Amino acid sequence: MTGLTMSTERERPFDPPDTYARLRERGTVHRMRFADGHEGWLVTGHAAARAVLADPRFSNRPELAHPPLAARAGLTEEIRSQEFKLPPGFFLRTDAPEHTRYRRLLTGQFTVRRMKGLEARILEITEARLDAMEAAERPVDLVDAFALPIPSLVICELLGVPYEERAAFQDDTKVMLSLEAKADEALAAIGHVFAYLNGLIPRKREHPGDDLLSGLIEGGELSDDELAGVAFLLLVAGHETTANMLGLGTYALLADPVQLAALRDDPSLIDNAVEELLRYLSIVHVGPVRAALEDVEVDGHLIRKGESVALHLPVINRDPAKFPGGDALDLTRSATGHLAFGHGIHQCLGQQLARSEMRIAFAALLRRFPGLRLAVPADEVPLRTDMGVYGVHRLPVTW
Ligand code: HEM
Repeated sequence: MTGLTMSTERERPFDPPDTYARLRERGTVHRMRFADGHEGWLVTGHAAARAVLADPRFSNRPELAHPPLAARAGLTEEIRSQEFKLPPGFFLRTDAPEHTRYRRLLTGQFTVRRMKGLEARILEITEARLDAMEAAERPVDLVDAFALPIPSLVICELLGVPYEERAAFQDDTKVMLSLEAKADEALAAIGHVFAYLNGLIPRKREHPGDDLLSGLIEGGELSDDELAGVAFLLLVAGHETTANMLGLGTYALLADPVQLAALRDDPSLIDNAVEELLRYLSIVHVGPVRAALEDVEVDGHLIRKGESVALHLPVINRDPAKFPGGDALDLTRSATGHLAFGHGIHQCLGQQLARSEMRIAFAALLRRFPGLRLAVPADEVPLRTDMGVYGVHRLPVTW
């Protein structure tokens, strides 16, 4: 029996818990007890993590994986829990060849042309949020005013949610993703979102637009149920993640005047800065988790068929073998090769879109508010240690 379990409590806001960072010094693969008592594994090394994520002998099917952490409040946890019945089309939790079919169809929709078109809209959406922020009374909660609505509106744009329906759609997704919402409220919100998506699909079939859903419908390969499941996955995967990168990323910049000044002085640093923030913050801080379909050796450890493997991305993305001095935020470093978007067949489908959102939103925020600063002492910012996607619950700012 191993004494090691998964915990998300941290000593410092931007650094992974010390226990797991220290563990990495001793090796890259460790025995760990999962929340249900299962004796599985924890990976803390970069090369070992890549090996697991690229290996088809590891499955991502929800019924095979054990939970590293006990289920907590919040929708993402429920979706990750084994009780939640995933809709058809939620292809993140499928293996090849089922996954291949969806991924091929979706990749065909994330075209360079569509992403370029979205960039112009992201800028408009961002500027409108910043206008509203400027007009509001200070201090402003940056999560509510900026970090949450931008990705939400971008997903509406991607899916082709009509303008007049966006406010209601955003309200439901906000409740669905909120930690404060009670389980029955969150489930009711999931119900609304599904009812909405189920109603949207026939309307798109009738009146197609230039959006991703219309494109998938035109392809004619997915049933309406599958289309709703795909839309739901994009919403869940693309909203909370990007929102938390915007919130936590701003906090990290405001907490580091040297790096912030470097980015203000040289706006061309933004692409590099986004990549480094992704690496340094690694907001997906519990999992990915995979289950071995047969016995597999990883870095000298025999992982037996049926055993679960959890990856600790925040620790992995600071592995000194890959990123020397990786505990420091350095916006000029080359962070290429980080695993914040995963690796292998499930590597984030929305990563180019997420990068565009971050690049445009961070740059516009710093441009519009040269005096932006925290409105509370840094140690009073409430942290999402209790959620599967790390970040800040609120970020009170002023300027
Ligand atoms: C900074 C923001 C984001 C981060 C850090 C992030 C992170 C990730 C990670 C780590 C995975 C792999 C999970 C695994 O292997 O188990 C993933 C998959 C995925 N992401 Fe993202 N993501 C972000 C934004 C987005 C956006 C904006 C979208 C869509 C609009 C999106 C859609 C997806 C989808 C559909 C998958 C599943 C891909 C598959 O299974 O083939 N993500 N993401």
